[in-house]
Order: sequence, then structure tokens, then C-alpha cells
Amino acid sequence: MQNQPKTMFVNIYHNSQEVAEAFALFLFTWLQGRSRTTIALSGGSTPQALFRHLAEAYGGRIDWQQVHFFWGDERCVPPGHPDSNYGMTKKMLLDRIAIPETNVHRIRGEDDPSGEALRYGKLLHRQLPLRYGQPVFDLIILGMGDDGHTASIFPDQPQLLLAKTTCAVTRHPKSGQLRITLTGPAINNAENVAFLVTGGTKAEKVGAIFHRTSGWQGFPAAHVAPKEGNLYWFLDHAATEEMVKGDLQ
Ligand code: 6PG
Repeated sequence: MQNQPKTMFVNIYHNSQEVAEAFALFLFTWLQGRSRTTIALSGGSTPQALFRHLAEAYGGRIDWQQVHFFWGDERCVPPGHPDSNYGMTKKMLLDRIAIPETNVHRIRGEDDPSGEALRYGKLLHRQLPLRYGQPVFDLIILGMGDDGHTASIFPDQPQLLLAKTTCAVTRHPKSGQLRITLTGPAINNAENVAFLVTGGTKAEKVGAIFHRTSGWQGFPAAHVAPKEGNLYWFLDHAATEEMVKGDLQ
């Protein structure tokens, strides 16, 4: 899989709160004057500070009528479950901004995973422009796990980096929890991809990815490179401890 985005921007901040505030400002600025814009959100804990700050600082200053939210992945649980990425986003952001319900396109974690992966993939093909047979998101926000996974593409499922489908059903390698995820080709078809990665537990993998060392090919996040898009890294100092130790590749 090719590993070069059209352009790459690396931004490093003191801590996770500064990452959240900087990316919220980036998003606010980027959205100014745009018409219908499609954004796929990530889950987990990192985006919670972003969503909270986005609602507090920019909730009344963004034309949410023009923003359509999707998800890069979802846990196969009902929306009210504590693990639900949609449920977390609803609490931290959606319930605090004036976004039309019809602009929020959640993955139905409560439904049969295989059927929902198909349904969501078809929805994306209807809702977004297509290129190379895959939907084109204006922006995909991603996190990275301690093991180098991104979305719900885990190191033991490298085939998803080259899958022909848009969505797939995966299983968390430790918890066994079923997930639905965008595949590598769907992610790498985006106009913009932004990683938000913070904390010392990510430093080893971030260093390996940027230095192309110690098994970097085995980390799915290393294969995110939007071939006709921009790749942004929003990192804090703790996550870049290893990266800043040597020359970048
Ligand atoms: C998910 C995410 C996943 C997440 C990473 C990092 O559903 O969990 O989409 O890819 O971004 O696991 O998670 P943290 O932000 O909690 O470190």
C-alpha cells in the first residue's frame, strides 16, 4: 500500500487540552464559508476534549446546517451503551449544538454487524461523492491505539488496509468486542485526514511510524496516507517523545 499523502502537516502541542483547542480552531476556520461538508468522527477518549471544547467555544459560531457527521468506526453496542462512540459524541457535542438530526449519520451498533456494515457502506455511497469506487469524505478524524490501530483496523487484520469494501466488521483483539470500521481504501480516499494522538502510551508507535523503524509496517495507522489528500497530525509532547529523538523519514 502506498504510504505517501499528497501533503502532510505535523503540529505538536504541550498537552492534550491544547491539541483539542488547536484542532477545534482548525475545524472552525476550515468550515468558514464551506457548503455541505462531510466529516467522519473517531471514538475513544481522545476526541472527548475536542467535542467538549468545540461545543463550548464554537457551538454557536459554526453553521451546523452545512455539516454532516459520520463515524469512522463504531462498537457493536446500542447507542446508550457506555462504549458507544455515537453515544459519547451525542453527550459531549451533538446534544449541545443546533445540528439537524438528518445531518447525523450514526452506525447502528445495535444491529446485526454484517448487515449494518453493508447498510452503512451503501449509505456512504449515496451520501458522498465517489472516486476509485470509494466515498470521498471532506475530512476524517482518526485516533491511534497503543498498538498502532486506527479506526477499528487492528494490527491482526492488515487485509482491511486493502479491502475492496467501504466498511467491514472487525473484532477488538483483546476484548473480542465486535466493531464496524471504514476500510483503508475508504480512509485513504478522503480529501483530508487528521490524526489526534496524545499521551505517552502512543509515543513508541508514533516514533516508529515517523522514523519507519521497529515494525512500523505492522501498525495500521502507518498506512493512512490520503493519496489525493492532506494528512494532518495533531500531537502532544508526550506522544512525540520517541519521534523527536531522531531524523524523520
Ligand atoms: C475507537 C476509535 C479508535 C481510537 C483509538 C484511540 O472506536 O476506539 O475509533 O480508533 O481512536 O483506539 O483511542 P483513545 O483516544 O481512547 O486513546
